[in-house]
Amino acid sequence: MTASLEQLRRCHFAVDLGAARTRVFIKGEGVVVDEPSAAAINTRTGALIAVGTLAEQMTGRTPGYIRVVRPVKGGTVIDIDMAQRMLRHLLGDKVRRALRRKPRLRAAACTPHDADPLAQRATVETLVGIGARRVELVDTLIAAAVGCGLPVERPEASMILVCGAATTQIAVLSLGSIVTAERVPVGGNAIDHSVLSYLRHHHELMLPSQSVRPLHVALRGGDLSMTGSGTTEIHGRDVATGLARSVEVDTVGLRSAISIPLTGVLDGIGKVLRDCPPDLVADLADRGIMMVGGSALMPGLDQMIREATGMPVQVAERPDIASVTGLGAMLDGQIEPMTLNPLSA
Ligand SMILES: Nc1ncnc2c1ncn2[C@@H]1O[C@H](COP(=O)(O)OP(=O)(O)OP(=O)(O)O)[C@@H](O)[C@H]1O
Ligand SMILES: [Mg+2]
Repeated sequence: MTASLEQLRRCHFAVDLGAARTRVFIKGEGVVVDEPSAAAINTRTGALIAVGTLAEQMTGRTPGYIRVVRPVKGGTVIDIDMAQRMLRHLLGDKVRRALRRKPRLRAAACTPHDADPLAQRATVETLVGIGARRVELVDTLIAAAVGCGLPVERPEASMILVCGAATTQIAVLSLGSIVTAERVPVGGNAIDHSVLSYLRHHHELMLPSQSVRPLHVALRGGDLSMTGSGTTEIHGRDVATGLARSVEVDTVGLRSAISIPLTGVLDGIGKVLRDCPPDLVADLADRGIMMVGGSALMPGLDQMIREATGMPVQVAERPDIASVTGLGAMLDGQIEPMTLNPLSA
């Protein structure tokens, strides 16, 4: 599926349509859009009211006639028309005018590993709708590996863990291609969900979905690692009385709640390693795992994976935008394909 570097170099812009965030890279300019993949619509008139951050802030706070929709689910565009409208607004008039001036507009997009043809088609249709004449698709795993500077084209193994919102993708790469890969339907959303149900069951506390992030922030400082313990205060609504209440939550309990979805990710890592040729596994023992994706920013997640696998784990410098910067590096021609000099006689 992955397009050749030659084809990518001719693209004018690159898009990563994620379940949580949409990112756009413009050739020669850099990342111009990094906003939530959300749109608020007026259901009476069908008009778009807000997109991106503003639309996300409206989630759960809208009157009946306004609905916040997410046109991308699980890494797949499920509402092409809405995704196009959202993208148009996120790009803004100025960028769109600049793109329209290109004679044959070409776009690149990353799609999740083993996305089915229908999902790939949906991504292509979305970009054709905003004016692209040709769309090149790249596997997210490759884009992310390039984006975080892994030496993908060398004959050494690199292991990458893309922790997104809806899915976690794991792969071993060597010589510029994927050797083995897995896609686990567990991501940041599942982790947030398990925190919410833990609070509901153990503290009878209901939390607005947007308060989970401050919770991660409160836990920052290694409290989430296997050894840390302590408590943190959380405000929410009592399940029975409906009144506002705050409780002290211990991090040990939270950690055990998070470890349930994490098991799926660890199983995926195990499967990839089992399917991998032994020579590459030997490389990985000292090179370790590179984590990218927004959920890689969750404090303590790297430590948990390090302890569970016994392998070195590293978080990329800007894990959240790695896929789109990887695409951008390929567009800008910063990545040289490995060329073999013909063996001279
Ligand atoms: N600082 C942070 N701490 C904890 N979690 C974070 C942080 N920043 C982002 N996240 C989580 O990362 C997820 C978003 O990751 P990312 O931006 O990679 O998703 P995406 O690319 O839109 O999703 P996908 O690739 O699955 O389609 C969200 O679930 C969010 O809660
Ligand atoms: Mg993503």
